[in-house]
Amino acid sequence: MANSQPSRNLALELVRVTESAALASGRFMGRGQKEAADKAAVDAMRLVLNSIEMDAVVVIGEGEKDKAPMLFNGEKLGNGEPPAVDIAVDPIDGTRPLANGFINSISTVAIAPRGTMYDPGPFMYMHKLAVGPEAVGMIDINAPVDVNLGRIARIKNMHVNDLTVVILDRPRHDELIQQVRECGARIRLIPDGDVAGAMMTCWPDAGVDVLMGIGGTPEGVLAACALRGMGGEIQGKLYARNEDELARGVEMGYDFEANLTIDDLVSSDDVFFAATGITDGALLDGVKYFSHGAMTDSIVIRGLTGSVREMTARHNFDKLNPISQVEY
Ligand code: FBP
Repeated sequence: MANSQPSRNLALELVRVTESAALASGRFMGRGQKEAADKAAVDAMRLVLNSIEMDAVVVIGEGEKDKAPMLFNGEKLGNGEPPAVDIAVDPIDGTRPLANGFINSISTVAIAPRGTMYDPGPFMYMHKLAVGPEAVGMIDINAPVDVNLGRIARIKNMHVNDLTVVILDRPRHDELIQQVRECGARIRLIPDGDVAGAMMTCWPDAGVDVLMGIGGTPEGVLAACALRGMGGEIQGKLYARNEDELARGVEMGYDFEANLTIDDLVSSDDVFFAATGITDGALLDGVKYFSHGAMTDSIVIRGLTGSVREMTARHNFDKLNPISQVEY
């Protein structure tokens, strides 16, 4: 029997970060202001992250795509004291649904020891294949869709037509959707939010067996951090949108044919992850405001122990607003 003492669970501190970002940006639900929502989430996130005892460097920031007030790659966060960690942030995964008042928008952040997170550089997209604990070891991102679905069904003692595949609703997935349909599996199309999509494969009540398709690289690394703790598996492969991007990547030493395993995406088990719902989704409820306060719904994951906590919090704005630099 090992005799190590219980140690700090940084995820319990990270959840205050995602709660704060969700509370601040939740005000923008349906208001059509993507950038203002993002700014509110980023400002809240940065403020709380800087209060945490850690020496963090942003490895996964918001990426070029959002053209928004970023938590930029290379930015230092925390109070500068050990532990030295990499940090991945997505203050709002699902800015579009938040601005438009749709489902599936979450705030998320992950931490792992320094040097253990995959750095996708400027490359924004990757192929993804993610499954829950029962199907770990059965998938291969280079195998055809029918092979992967067949293996997942077999190991889960299901028929392929019992499986539900989550796919981002994008024209680039028309062929993938056709292939899944030909296999007879069910499809749940999501408008946005493939971090939650990947996590749903590990969530018993979500009724989802596998995530397939091309999504953001930042979201791929964040999903890998969550799935390490939840016991699932994700594989990725960088995706170039055109020949120029491919040539640029190859020149920079990126291999667009390489299978990125969960270990490549985050190579340590000592990973911490938190997410809070901003709008309602299959995984988390959105922020609910009421007189003088609000409620948040979060998930808090520690890779080392595999603990997955669901956390509902009631926030009292009468007490918070007079002392907080973030206006809730
Ligand atoms: P953001 O809200 O952070 O932009 O991401 C939303 C999202 O749906 C991700 O979950 C997903 O990985 C990515 O966008 C897919 O990119 P695109 O919308 O360009 O297809």
